[in-house]
Amino acid sequence: MPTEAIRTHGLTKVYGTFTAVDHVDLSVPTGSVFGLLGPNGAGKTTIIKMLTGLSDITEGDASVAGFDVRRDPMHVKRNVGWVAAEVILDDDLSAWENLWLQAKLQRLTDWKGRADALLGYFELTDRRKDKVSKYSTGMRKKLEIALALLHQPQVIFMDEPTIGLDPNTRRMLWELIEGAHKEFGISILLTSHYIEEADRLCDTVAIIDHGKFVACGTPDELKSKVRADLIEVETGESVDAAKLQAIPGVVEARSQGKTWILRVGSAEEALPKVLAALRSDGIRRINVEKPSLETVFLETTGHRLGASTEGNVDYRKFYAQMRRARQ
Ligand SMILES: Nc1ncnc2c1ncn2[C@@H]1O[C@H](COP(=O)(O)OP(=O)(O)OP(=O)(O)O)[C@@H](O)[C@H]1O
Ligand SMILES: [Mg+2]
Repeated sequence: MPTEAIRTHGLTKVYGTFTAVDHVDLSVPTGSVFGLLGPNGAGKTTIIKMLTGLSDITEGDASVAGFDVRRDPMHVKRNVGWVAAEVILDDDLSAWENLWLQAKLQRLTDWKGRADALLGYFELTDRRKDKVSKYSTGMRKKLEIALALLHQPQVIFMDEPTIGLDPNTRRMLWELIEGAHKEFGISILLTSHYIEEADRLCDTVAIIDHGKFVACGTPDELKSKVRADLIEVETGESVDAAKLQAIPGVVEARSQGKTWILRVGSAEEALPKVLAALRSDGIRRINVEKPSLETVFLETTGHRLGASTEGNVDYRKFYAQMRRARQ
């Protein structure tokens, strides 16, 4: 088994004149969980598509499970599994029939024992003959992961595995992903919008924005880069930057819509001074943030992960959530 499950050098994707992925260098050690964290349109899915051979590489090199993606795409496909953000199950078939279909698609001959074991592992054995249309959202997710594991891949790609799930199901899925990772010894590359998810599941996280890696490291390494606390404050009256910057302890003041984000050495020391300085400006909301992946993201990109830079509603995500809610 190669020491690196995934390696890329200068990986680039250009659509027309638009560069969606811009010279990305990636190294995922075998057996680890790597997270790509970034806002809508950052290039996360495009990276997965290139690494699984679904989309051509414009420039650069990539290898997955020890095979060169360009020269050896068939070996790459045989050794990777993909859990997509979209639902891929056939609702009219049972769990067992979905597994059978997957085995046909993968041209697997000796798959039944493995399928049985996977159904057992994901506690779906009793429901194996039920149509998937009768499954809960959590059961569907379990089956999706079982399908991705059927052909015993070395590397699994999970594109926003928990999008649109309620917090309880999301937590259940985190436990399953952690368990499956240990049980089946696979390397995982997952994409996420959820800071908490990346923090909990990933050994290494790359923060991606506009097709480029802006930071990469273990969640703790990334957090230790931010040697500041943040105070977020919203006031009734408008306040100018000079007034905020004059408050002792405030290193920087940045506006984000109606809110100001103040970078301070220590929130405990700066907070009373901020409250005193803004007493006459009608503080509506004040919030203290200690270093987290969210603050790392804010520090490296200048905007929040959750806030779309264009301020647009993400209809694709909205529909994905609606579709799951209806299931
Ligand atoms: N087939 C395509 N043709 C042209 N542009 C594309 C194509 N596919 C993706 N893009 C663009 O490439 C950029 C990156 O898209 P990608 O789907 O990789 O983003 P993402 O990080 O997965 O976002 P999300 O979090 O919304 O899933 C976007 O600006 C997108 O519009
Ligand atoms: Mg995507």
